[in-house]
Amino acid sequence: MIVDGFAPESIASGADCISAGGLVGMPTETVYGLAADACNASAVARIFAAKRRPAEHPLIVHVADAAGAARFAQHVPTFAGALMQAYWPGPLTLILPRREGVAAVAAGGQDTVGLRCPAHPVARALLQACAARGVHALAAPSANQFGRVSPTTAAHVQDEFDRDLLILDGGACSVGIESTIIDCSRGAPVLLRPGAITAAQVRTACGLSVLSNEEQARLDASAPRASGTLEQHYAPKARVRLMDARALQTALNLLGPDVDRGTATIATYSRVLLTTASRSVLRRHMPDDADEAARQLFAVLREFDAQGATLIWVETPPPAPEWDAVRDRLQRAAA
Ligand code: TXA
Ligand code: MG
Repeated sequence: MIVDGFAPESIASGADCISAGGLVGMPTETVYGLAADACNASAVARIFAAKRRPAEHPLIVHVADAAGAARFAQHVPTFAGALMQAYWPGPLTLILPRREGVAAVAAGGQDTVGLRCPAHPVARALLQACAARGVHALAAPSANQFGRVSPTTAAHVQDEFDRDLLILDGGACSVGIESTIIDCSRGAPVLLRPGAITAAQVRTACGLSVLSNEEQARLDASAPRASGTLEQHYAPKARVRLMDARALQTALNLLGPDVDRGTATIATYSRVLLTTASRSVLRRHMPDDADEAARQLFAVLREFDAQGATLIWVETPPPAPEWDAVRDRLQRAAA
């Protein structure tokens, strides 16, 4: 059931539902989350079941502020504190050593916990109303079935779960892809997932260079760490292929007027203008601006699915760092 997330009575119903151990679809500035009381083990188990997510995959715990994070982090390194100061509330998740005995199920049993302070006004209002009911943090993975494309509207969430899920409508997400994840539990910042906050911004805010997960693993060979917890794909139903603009146009040139009818329905998403003789190719223009492309990306993939596309041909985004997050999601979708 979708309700207006900006209405105070919707926030109250959401907070009542969560404090009773239920699940709520919650808008954030990145993507919609499926939220539950992070400290209620059976509520958190309900998230894993609803998403069909393996229980060892840790969830992000959402808090109202840095003081909220201190309930869950055993220790906040100075550089992590600087990142909170610079980018909270906002699209940045920090992995920190977990305080013993808290949010163990949400953390998937790891000795660390992923903490994020969302900026979306509906998420903030929900956190505040939950706090008034004694619930101080919300475990919330993206509100999609495991491995599938994250939702960026309330309607996307409704498409993924039972009709009776309470979904707070907070409009279309302004960022559109999941938060940047920085592991702060290994002495230096390690980038686990690129997002709207770039590695360069992290470095500027905390004065330390950001290692990629692979670089960190090489430096720290003595203590290999299961980092394979990030979902492998963000896949639509159609098969996604990444190509440069020229290869994409060449592939289209091979299609006649009707070749794709009855065999494959092809969709393209590109910055260059493509030409085709086929009457049935679905074409969407990828914005030249990386932030705008991020905002649209998951909705475009979902739209192609809804239109029955079986193949999605995407122009590989430019190599510039501002495209890292969009490129990452597309590469996972194509994997
Ligand atoms: O933007 C976002 O981060 C959204 C919104 C709803 O906040 N949430 C989100 O959650 O993307 P989810 O569960 O779909 O992705 C969380 C990622 C997972 O890949 C998980 O492996 C990683 O965060 N993660 C969470 N806790 C972790 C931990 N303790 N150590 C390593 N990775 C962790
Ligand atoms: Mg997810």
